[in-house]
Amino acid sequence: MEIKVIAGDATQVETGAIVIGFFEGTDGLDGGLATIDKALDGAISWLVSQGEVKGKTGEISVIHSLGKIPAARVVIVGLGKREELTLDRIRGAVAEACRCLQRKGVDDVAVGAVGGDTIGITPEISAQTITEGALLGVYSFRKHITKEAEHGEIKKLSIISRSKDDIRSLEQGVEKGRVLAEAANLARDMVNEPANYMTPTNMAGVAEKVAKDYSLELTVLEKKEMQELGMGALLGVAQGSCQPPKFIVLKYSGGGSGDVDLALVGKGVTFDSGGISIKPSAKMDEMKDDMSGGAAVIAAISAIARLKPKINVVAIVPAVENLPSGSAIKPGDVLTAITGKTIEIISTDAEGRLILADALGYVNRLKPRFIVDVATLTGACIVALGNICTGVFGNNQELVNRVIAAGAEAGELIWQMPMFEEYKEQNKSEVADIKNVGDRGAGPITAAQFLAEFVGDTPWVHLDIAGTSFNDKERRYLVKGATGVPVRTLVNLALAIAAS
Ligand code: BES
Ligand code: ZN
Ligand code: ZN
Repeated sequence: MEIKVIAGDATQVETGAIVIGFFEGTDGLDGGLATIDKALDGAISWLVSQGEVKGKTGEISVIHSLGKIPAARVVIVGLGKREELTLDRIRGAVAEACRCLQRKGVDDVAVGAVGGDTIGITPEISAQTITEGALLGVYSFRKHITKEAEHGEIKKLSIISRSKDDIRSLEQGVEKGRVLAEAANLARDMVNEPANYMTPTNMAGVAEKVAKDYSLELTVLEKKEMQELGMGALLGVAQGSCQPPKFIVLKYSGGGSGDVDLALVGKGVTFDSGGISIKPSAKMDEMKDDMSGGAAVIAAISAIARLKPKINVVAIVPAVENLPSGSAIKPGDVLTAITGKTIEIISTDAEGRLILADALGYVNRLKPRFIVDVATLTGACIVALGNICTGVFGNNQELVNRVIAAGAEAGELIWQMPMFEEYKEQNKSEVADIKNVGDRGAGPITAAQFLAEFVGDTPWVHLDIAGTSFNDKERRYLVKGATGVPVRTLVNLALAIAAS
């Protein structure tokens, strides 16, 4: 989609549709809306007076201009109450308007830049938000559908600025919004891909392409090197599958020193059958999304490389497939992780924490300032938080706060869970140093406590995205399927660390 910033009057723009926001509870029309209303002989104020346009969030009204202005349609999107406006509402409104128009076959759309002094949104943020909403909202994954789509795509989006002075800032916003949305869409593409097209080897292939496109340093450790490093936990999970494991390391060096400022670690289980502790077959197909954390960190570092903050970042993905077979690990087995810690396997379905144990142990050797891991780790996190917010856990409150703030900026909701010492009790084993599953209660917390054993004192945060990585229905700018969460949070975090 081509996105352009143009200065001028909305009544003069030639396009398939002009999208304009409308606040709930507005009496008279003002600004751009009043000018368009006049040009349409009062059609908008008539609809408002009839109660047909209310301005509620999610409301979309399409009015045909019938030649009264150069734009073929005027689309009024509800933004809810003015005092409750958030950037995320704007993202959602733009996404829904674009999807609605795309379904009608419109391929050229113009949107009025939101903001100005009244609602305190800078031109740059306004354009970034509109761009994100549009690019995230019209995303689709049709790679394996041979039938032609019922409608085309929006090819051109123009952001209309009332002042020429804002053009440069608006353009910068478009650029940043594009980088963020394209990264989230890259993660979505990887996650939506069926597991036979997104094996550990394929994941390494994507990392290779990203490294080439954005000049990142890439290392992929093979099984033999993992054996030499003593990654017994990761290799244990991998041993049930014919797909060879890959340990992917991407490096972005934007800071002066050789130190790693931020290490991102993402769970890359390309398919989680549960292994010998096999999962029920219903919805097992959804377990292709068990590499969402890995996809997110690869996508995030691609955006970081494009935005070039002054910081050093590594993204690490332990990539494996979890299958049952004659060579698979079994409940009761004991594995030794890279740190030398021994782990009793209670369930082969708690495999995420096993591969992350080795990945966290590995990354900790690089002595990073901060570690953030991202994983579809526990079904229990979905029970606790649903698919609305990601669970966050950590050993450093300041870093937890920063991650939550980076998420808020992205419109990605994150909720902190407790890490009381008392929960650790559940992970105690009688035959090894630790076991991979605790009792029934507090699943997401005992999983996080397990991970904490492998990061030492390094400030670390764990994001459980089991509920937020995949949606079974469309919601605002999140389409059905992979969401791309928390790619934009991770990028915002890197930018914030670089700026501090
Ligand atoms: N990948 C799953 C977690 C998951 C479940 C993500 C459903 C998304 C949707 C993870 O590997 C797993 O199976 N966890 C087990 C842990 C249990 C054995 C302690 C779970 O949540 O059931
Ligand atoms: Zn599992
Ligand atoms: Zn899993």
